[in-house]
Amino acid sequence: MTMTSASIRRAFLDYFASKQHQIVPSSSLIPGNDATLLFTNAGMVQFKDVFLGQDQRNYNRAVSAQRCVRAGGKHNDLENVGYTARHHTFFEMLGNFSFGDYFKQEAIAYAWEFLTSVVKLPKEKLWVTVYETDDEAYNIWLKDVGVPAERIIRIGDNKGAPYASDNFWAMGDTGPCGPCTEIFYDHGAHIWGGPPGSAEEDGDRYIEIWNIVFMQFNRHSDGRMEQLPKPSVDTGMGLERIAAILQNVHSNYEIDIFVALINAAAEATGAQDLTDKSLRVVADHIRSCSFLIVDGVQPSNEGRGYVLRRIVRRAVRHGNKLGAKGAFFYKLVAALVSQMGEAYPELAEKQAVIEKILKLEEDQFGKTLERGLAILEEALTEIEGTELPGELVFKLYDTYGFPVDLTNDVARERNYTIDQAGFDAAMAQQRKRAQQASNFGADYNASLSSNQHTEFTGYQHEFGNAVVLEILHDGQPVNSLTDAEHALVVLDKTPFYAESGGQMGDSGKLTLANGSVLNVTDTIKLGKAFAHKANISGTITVGDKVNAQIDSARRAAIKQNHSATHLLHAALRKVLGEHVSQKGSLVGPERLRFDFSHFEAVKPEELRTIEQLVNQQIQQNNVLQTQLMPIEQAKAAGAMALFGEKYDDEVRVLTMGEFSIELCGGTHVSRTGDIGVFKIVSEAGIASGVRRIEAVSGTGAILHIQQLEQQAQQVASALKGDVLSIGERVQQALERSKQLEKEIDQLKNKLASQAGASLLEQAEQVSGATVLVSQLPAIEPKALRTMLDELKNKLSSGVIFLATVNDDKISLIAGVTADLTGKVHAGQLVGWVAEQLGGKGGGRPDMAQAGGSDIAALPAAIVAAKNLIKEKLS
Ligand code: ALA
Repeated sequence: MTMTSASIRRAFLDYFASKQHQIVPSSSLIPGNDATLLFTNAGMVQFKDVFLGQDQRNYNRAVSAQRCVRAGGKHNDLENVGYTARHHTFFEMLGNFSFGDYFKQEAIAYAWEFLTSVVKLPKEKLWVTVYETDDEAYNIWLKDVGVPAERIIRIGDNKGAPYASDNFWAMGDTGPCGPCTEIFYDHGAHIWGGPPGSAEEDGDRYIEIWNIVFMQFNRHSDGRMEQLPKPSVDTGMGLERIAAILQNVHSNYEIDIFVALINAAAEATGAQDLTDKSLRVVADHIRSCSFLIVDGVQPSNEGRGYVLRRIVRRAVRHGNKLGAKGAFFYKLVAALVSQMGEAYPELAEKQAVIEKILKLEEDQFGKTLERGLAILEEALTEIEGTELPGELVFKLYDTYGFPVDLTNDVARERNYTIDQAGFDAAMAQQRKRAQQASNFGADYNASLSSNQHTEFTGYQHEFGNAVVLEILHDGQPVNSLTDAEHALVVLDKTPFYAESGGQMGDSGKLTLANGSVLNVTDTIKLGKAFAHKANISGTITVGDKVNAQIDSARRAAIKQNHSATHLLHAALRKVLGEHVSQKGSLVGPERLRFDFSHFEAVKPEELRTIEQLVNQQIQQNNVLQTQLMPIEQAKAAGAMALFGEKYDDEVRVLTMGEFSIELCGGTHVSRTGDIGVFKIVSEAGIASGVRRIEAVSGTGAILHIQQLEQQAQQVASALKGDVLSIGERVQQALERSKQLEKEIDQLKNKLASQAGASLLEQAEQVSGATVLVSQLPAIEPKALRTMLDELKNKLSSGVIFLATVNDDKISLIAGVTADLTGKVHAGQLVGWVAEQLGGKGGGRPDMAQAGGSDIAALPAAIVAAKNLIKEKLS
């Protein structure tokens, strides 16, 4: 019996647990606080700081099954996926770790025992490699384990640089690293390939299954190799590779998990040929895409989000090749959940979210995919040579959303290459254009500019003396200005904050010794100059000295709202997830507005939690700290930076306790307690995947709460209750009014039936049957129906025809007792009358309703109805 992937995973964890290893769950694909790494690409990533001696755990042996992504960054397999038997964007790494505990001897012995005794691989099929100079490892294999010398291969720095070797493993360009020994499995002579180190090593015959790294160094960015405090062990075995061997298949794509995914992909795309490479691509990609979303990545145009977008789009393109009509990729999530949901419960929990995000991305890309492909096809038939021009690759990228590797994928299938340099140049051009465009503030005259430089003193001061450097009026520089509105005054230094980073500019006053006063309504940046928008009473001249005083109360409210915005941002990420990123913000004195990425409405209970978190932070009264530091250091410290924002090399980092760390140039309160109180006012969607929260803080929040209370009190007193019970009271009031409506209906029915009883007095007898034809005062169709039923019940044999006009509409109803339906058909009768009234209708022989609109014709129609009935009866 072969072992399933799940049982291999289990056996591995159990084996090492029996050797006193702590079973540690897989960490997220997004490395925690590690700016050096795009994705978790090995089991050791979550233990990086432990290897470096910077973190301690209460265990020194660990074992894990770690989800890994190798797409983008140092270890990137994206381009190979689909073209080999063993490359994936996503895979699971089984690994055991020793943190300064055991070393080479045990590490090798454990691996050997697991492979040969637990999962019982034939020893003669296993080959090993060691780092060229690692005699210790060589001898352990030869003497202690007993691997024959011809199957132990020494591999040196064969990649052209010191430590550049298949047998020297490094997590990235910096960080823990060391020599390693690898175990290979020989899939047999029927497959092409040679042993490691041979000319044919790239073939698929000898496949590396387990890498055992002897962690000994910390590599620094300058290339320095620092000895680690304690030699350690980091190992990694690809679950898919060992599963292929144990399931007697050669390709990873033939193991249980992939068979299920490939079947699902075939079903979703309508593909017939199960060996189609595109099915493999799609089956591989659904794993990385789903797990990246589980870990909070969303498709976007930058960083991790862009890698995800590239993978989704590659999958969609291959699905399209397979014949998929419309969105198909998201349908595979269910199959993935049934394969892997048990081992990764977070996957099962987020199934709906993953499906939603994938479908959105597919729908979006699907719109342009076919047109882009058509353009690419045409180009492929037209160009001379075998290189796709960079301009075209760029156009596909820019207009049709084709990531370069997708275009490359298509090109490669047709034996074309792409002009990467040409693409990069076109891209750089576009960046330049975009930058130029964004230099124009949308609100202000684009011709406004200044070459002056203003020093901002407003972090410490709210007033101060300054010199007028420049005056602009109607967009033109002037030397002097008297009694004017909408001037722009540039000073050499100023406590006025100029609008930026979402924070509104300050207002206040500039006063001159000559008694002139400038009312500043706003402050904006013109390059490096701060321009005060001012209304002038008096005269101001370039070179004048002024006293600048901001509106302190307004600034104080802005500060509260700005600091509250940072707390809100951090709380949103904690409650909703790391996918939340800032899309826009506006901080004013009255309220704050914060736009962020999130694909569904924030639930009321989530809003409450967010509000509580922020208020807790306020109560903790943490000191706000600002620090200037290099951008790289800030990012490494985990400071949230905005996509698309250009930062100087040195940035200002604002920290609030442990809770929030962000790059920010704005003005803030000194301690979180100064914010006073925080209250969310509204939450709404403003664009696809973007939500907006409006909130208030400080005095603004108190006012808001008071307003709410006042309204509640008004309601309460109208309901004669107290505020705390208004919910209940309103409920009662609503129930009462429902009850009353019901009673009114009953009364109406009763009245109608009484009126009906008296109506019968008007009835005539025709050939032994009672005939009642009558127009009634305005009553609702429902009551009309009740009345008819009541009347009919009173007759043993008869025909009733009633009409009424209600809101300019005529309602007709006819009822015929069962014995007479052969003579008078109620449906035909009302239909016939309705026709004369510009209406239509019909129904059963014993009861029918209809409507009409020609009120003037009603009297005649009623007479005609009566005559018709009499005629039919006699
Ligand atoms: N960290 C080692 C690898 O990824 C085990 O191969």
